[in-house]
Amino acid sequence: MSQRVDWISMPAGPLHGELRVPGDKSVSHRAIMLAALADGVSRVDGFLEGEDTLATAAAFGQMGVRIESPSAACRIVYGVGLHGLQAAGSPIDCGNAGTGMRLLAGLLAGQAFDSSLVGDASLTSRPMGRIIEPLAAMGARIEAQRGGFPPLHVHGNRELHGHLHTPQVASAQVKSAIMLAGLYAQGTTEVQEAHPTRDYSERMLAAFGWPVEFSPGWVRLKGRHRLSATDVSVPADFSSAAFFLVAASLVPGSDLLLRSVGMNPRRTGLLAVLRLMGADISEKNARDQGGERMADLHVRYSPLHGIDVPEALVADMIDEFPILFVAAAMAKGTTRITGAGELRVKESDRIASMARGLAALGVEIHEQADGAVIHGGLIGPGRIESAGDHRVAMSFAVAGLLADGDVELGDCANVATSFPGFFDLANRAGFSISTL
Ligand code: S3P
Repeated sequence: MSQRVDWISMPAGPLHGELRVPGDKSVSHRAIMLAALADGVSRVDGFLEGEDTLATAAAFGQMGVRIESPSAACRIVYGVGLHGLQAAGSPIDCGNAGTGMRLLAGLLAGQAFDSSLVGDASLTSRPMGRIIEPLAAMGARIEAQRGGFPPLHVHGNRELHGHLHTPQVASAQVKSAIMLAGLYAQGTTEVQEAHPTRDYSERMLAAFGWPVEFSPGWVRLKGRHRLSATDVSVPADFSSAAFFLVAASLVPGSDLLLRSVGMNPRRTGLLAVLRLMGADISEKNARDQGGERMADLHVRYSPLHGIDVPEALVADMIDEFPILFVAAAMAKGTTRITGAGELRVKESDRIASMARGLAALGVEIHEQADGAVIHGGLIGPGRIESAGDHRVAMSFAVAGLLADGDVELGDCANVATSFPGFFDLANRAGFSISTL
């Protein structure tokens, strides 16, 4: 467990210059997993050296995969092939990472050995029934604690078979866990989603040479092929860029360039929403790299106004709601968020964490079961608790930048799970954050 870290974020700005936020968390997890299962040696550049993805790399180390780090954000993975993993020997600690635990559970369900998956207090309170049920329908056996919570015990030596899944919840983690089990299953595994979610697993499986058919909201693959090593270039994480997009939109005089940001359409819903709110963000130098779209994002100060957030965009911005709550608190008029009940089962209950924190800073906010109504205006000084949630902590660091007084941020250590270096990078761009 990391040591407690408290910050204070003070009004400052404008934000200027160019920066590159760390690598994409979702892509980094998947790159390590598929490279480990491939035949041959893969190189991963732009790897996120955050606690979540380091935990995933350590998990494969425990299972006998050699992973070298010759330089910052680079990993060389010596793949052991689809059936080359060895039993971990002790429980695999996924830390704070829902993606790590859920995807690993799918992958481990197809192994010839048993595994145990544990996590921190936040992860231990996150629902796993959503992967256990579909994996069980494929023949897997996974035991959880009462109510479907971690730790998990994943039984090996199971005969998995393909299945047609139609998950109730829009979740790329659920879809990906099913697909990874599908690699080991006999026959065809297919997922039909009610709302399309991020398709990194599909794209990356294809890049590693696995035959996979997919379109938005649908994927189909057959089991028992092989993965061939390939090099992966991880784009900067749109979710980490999001804090700067909102901050620079709202601090007068700001003009900031964010380099090489991943622009997968299933991730960039916040961009559409900020533009609807009046943001001035342009895409420069858009290009494809390794099957993923990326671009430099140029953001300039432009006052925002409140909107009704289109429900069709919720899945495409599921990780960006904490920072959208802050944008809405500073926007002119009212913002209504609906259809976002999934926020209640993230690293914290993000509707409750944001509503509690913004109310403590004097914002008029009405929490609802699946969203909130936020009346924009001024953010005042005060103290908030991040609830151990990295995105809540960074969102309130932005609130402090925009507020008319200092904001104390309790419990920020978990920022390191997804955005190591946030403190320095933000201060370099024009924030004024100190440790308390
Ligand atoms: C992720 C999917 C999302 C997201 C998480 C990362 C992934 O979760 O919130 O941060 O890498 O697949 P859900 O798919 O469960 O919504």
